[in-house]
Amino acid sequence: MSDPPRAAIQWRVPFVRPDLPPFEAVEPAYRRIHASGLLTKGSELTAFEAEAARVLGSEHVVAVSSCSVGLALVMRALRAGRGSPDPAGRVEVILPSFIFLAAPAAVVWAGLEPVFVDVDPASWTIDPRAVAAALGPRTLAVLGCHTFGCPCDTDSLEAICDDAGVPLLVDAAHGLGSRRRGKQVGAEGFAQVFSLSPTKLVCAGEGGLVATSSPALAAALRDLREYGNDGTYDCHVPGLNGRMPEPAAALGRASLSRLPEVAARRAAIAAAYTRGLGGVPGLTLQDIDPCADSSWKDYSVLVDPDLFGTDRDGVRRALAGAGIDSRTYYDPPCHAMPAFRHHRVAGSMTVTGRLAAASLSLPMGGQMTEALAAEVAAVITRSAAGLVSGTGSGP
Ligand SMILES: Cc1ncc(COP(=O)(O)O)c(C=O)c1O
Repeated sequence: MSDPPRAAIQWRVPFVRPDLPPFEAVEPAYRRIHASGLLTKGSELTAFEAEAARVLGSEHVVAVSSCSVGLALVMRALRAGRGSPDPAGRVEVILPSFIFLAAPAAVVWAGLEPVFVDVDPASWTIDPRAVAAALGPRTLAVLGCHTFGCPCDTDSLEAICDDAGVPLLVDAAHGLGSRRRGKQVGAEGFAQVFSLSPTKLVCAGEGGLVATSSPALAAALRDLREYGNDGTYDCHVPGLNGRMPEPAAALGRASLSRLPEVAARRAAIAAAYTRGLGGVPGLTLQDIDPCADSSWKDYSVLVDPDLFGTDRDGVRRALAGAGIDSRTYYDPPCHAMPAFRHHRVAGSMTVTGRLAAASLSLPMGGQMTEALAAEVAAVITRSAAGLVSGTGSGP
């Protein structure tokens, strides 16, 4: 008999639960919205964009229906020359292959071509040396990612992009709660796109925020999230309905106001994981630059089977045996997916291959406590010695 699908299992420790504000924090806004009948394009949206701009330290913030839509619209705007210097003949977007598939999907939706590069072996974020080597006359933009919440090296990436005259974009889906030199990320580069889906530190149900220093890009995005209608009912660049409705904006506002508290809680849980897993032979943790703080959207561990004694899938089975869910982010890597494998790979994919085959993301979110993280870590360390049922081979 085959195993039930993982999604159908009632996990004792689920992989993620949303970290929602108390209902009382959103109830007055929900009542106001309902009574007004203004369900979209209202004052919650305007207030949310202004509050997010302050938190992100960015001049312009445009709220959209998801991070995926935000990424696609930013790239569609660049392709049309809205905000980018000279798009003629430039159709390639350089991005890591070790990333959630929404990123290359957005590139393709915008009619552009992904070019996949490797990630740095320590931070697991896009490798600036690989970006420099991949740049060429067809490059329209570079897309980094704050992978699992670890800020990517925007200093080096900006220097490389400035030299080449190419805009730096960041898939900042995991970036609310990520900091560089004590400051929330968001202002670096040309544009950063955040996700507000239920697994993130700030949640709007579904939603995204585009932060940009470019008034031209912000104006283009406001048209593009409105079908491409600039108000004249004439269309220059085709958009889509990418609006954020009022109830989502209200939830986003209440959630954003709790970001410091939620980020501190995740940092404490991450520290408990690190106490249990740091220094264990055969386990490698994501190396966060000393000048940066991760949001810990995900906490992941890389398993070397020769040194650890069992492989990533053995660890995963041991966790499942103890009622603990986990994820194999990002396996397969994007450059190996049927939708993207005909696109260009620039340079070696050694680190990406190793991470895809051997990294495991552990439970994180509103359901977690430091004690649970210590317990998960103990199950993992015991799995090395085969002391936990389910570590052997088998389904
Ligand atoms: C790295 C990354 N990029 C993009 C997305 C897409 O975000 P959304 O679900 O808001 O479209 C996600 C979703 O989790 C993600 O992890």
